[in-house]
Amino acid sequence: MPEHEVPFPLNAEALLLRSLTDYAIYMMDPDGYILSWNAGGERIKGYSDDEVIGQHFSRFYLPEDAARGEPQRGLETARREGRFETEGWRVRKDGSRFRANIVIDPIIQDGRLVGFAKVTKDITERYEAQQRLKQAERTLAQAQKINAIRQLTLGVAHDFNNVLAVVMTSLDLLKDRRDESQRQRLIDAAQKAATRGSMLSQQLLAFARGQRLDPEPHDIRELILHSADVYRRAAGPSTACGFELGDESPTVQIDATQFEAALMNLVANARDAMHCPGHITISTRVLVPDAAVHPDVRPGTRYLYISVADDGPGMDEDTRLRAMEPFFTTKEVGRGSGLGLSQVFGFASQSGGFAFIESAPGSGTRVTIALPVEPAVEQ
Ligand SMILES: Nc1ncnc2c1ncn2[C@@H]1O[C@H](COP(=O)(O)OP(=O)(O)O)[C@@H](O)[C@H]1O
Ligand SMILES: [Mg+2]
Repeated sequence: MPEHEVPFPLNAEALLLRSLTDYAIYMMDPDGYILSWNAGGERIKGYSDDEVIGQHFSRFYLPEDAARGEPQRGLETARREGRFETEGWRVRKDGSRFRANIVIDPIIQDGRLVGFAKVTKDITERYEAQQRLKQAERTLAQAQKINAIRQLTLGVAHDFNNVLAVVMTSLDLLKDRRDESQRQRLIDAAQKAATRGSMLSQQLLAFARGQRLDPEPHDIRELILHSADVYRRAAGPSTACGFELGDESPTVQIDATQFEAALMNLVANARDAMHCPGHITISTRVLVPDAAVHPDVRPGTRYLYISVADDGPGMDEDTRLRAMEPFFTTKEVGRGSGLGLSQVFGFASQSGGFAFIESAPGSGTRVTIALPVEPAVEQ
């Protein structure tokens, strides 16, 4: 059948093809019947020459793939697009499977399709190595997760212990102190510790629940002023906490409890960062941010910015970039859970807004929560 004749390689090329033992290279007629193949074909697939020449190449496919028309699809794609490449399972003569990389090229002579050249590479070893690597990566990720949870548990247990120790000692001392100012100091200490404990449990709850929000329209200025004393107390005795609330205070859709937790987290971070007397400023303003501020900015939308700024030591760039990751903390065990900023960022994005950190070593830190003023969906 002269029309099925393909330009079989010259002797030198034939020799070359025979030496490529990791590749099965064969020539097929336009219908997929095998005209010739190289030694690699024999080695990889286990058939001898006479068992293969004249056979249809679909015999190398898994029966279910052949039934689905995979072999024809390969030929058609090669004809239409000038090449077909795929990876999949193929069968050897003994029925065993091997992972194959397959390339089919059409052979065109005088503008006419005269057949196909098919190159099959046995990539089982590479594939299995990749699978082992993937499995190892999964195991490692799992181990890291467990380690993170262990760290967290350790931190939280220490934190709660500290909280309870302060409360218990204060109560204990209260019993036999008569001096009113001393009693007041002890009550303050116990209250502060209890606030810290409740914040910690809020952080854990928010993280574990993935921040279930219950958004309702709120006037942020009212919310902030309502809890101003709590923030002042959280800032600690040596840090002044001031408020610069803009005249305009539009209504925003938020979960008030989560908003207050976020603000508490920011104030607590500012207090923790301060080594000497310092200032914390909670401020609000309304603006239409530039799209460059954050990838989540909705162009033309008005946002309410709520910022917590401090004049503490600030963060280096590495810390700033990682600060919002869950469990990321630079604090010693028992002082930080690494969940504060991740709660802030989770809250902001789930409220349809975003949050960002401005900070540099020696220049203090400002964390801003931006909430869209117009609700995303009219209700
Ligand atoms: N106001 C701030 N000034 C300096 N560093 C900060 C400030 N806020 C956060 N950070 C850094 O970001 C890290 C992560 O903060 P956070 O998520 O609240 O976890 P945690 O406070 O438990 O460490 C902190 O450990 C600290 O290194
Ligand atoms: Mg924190």
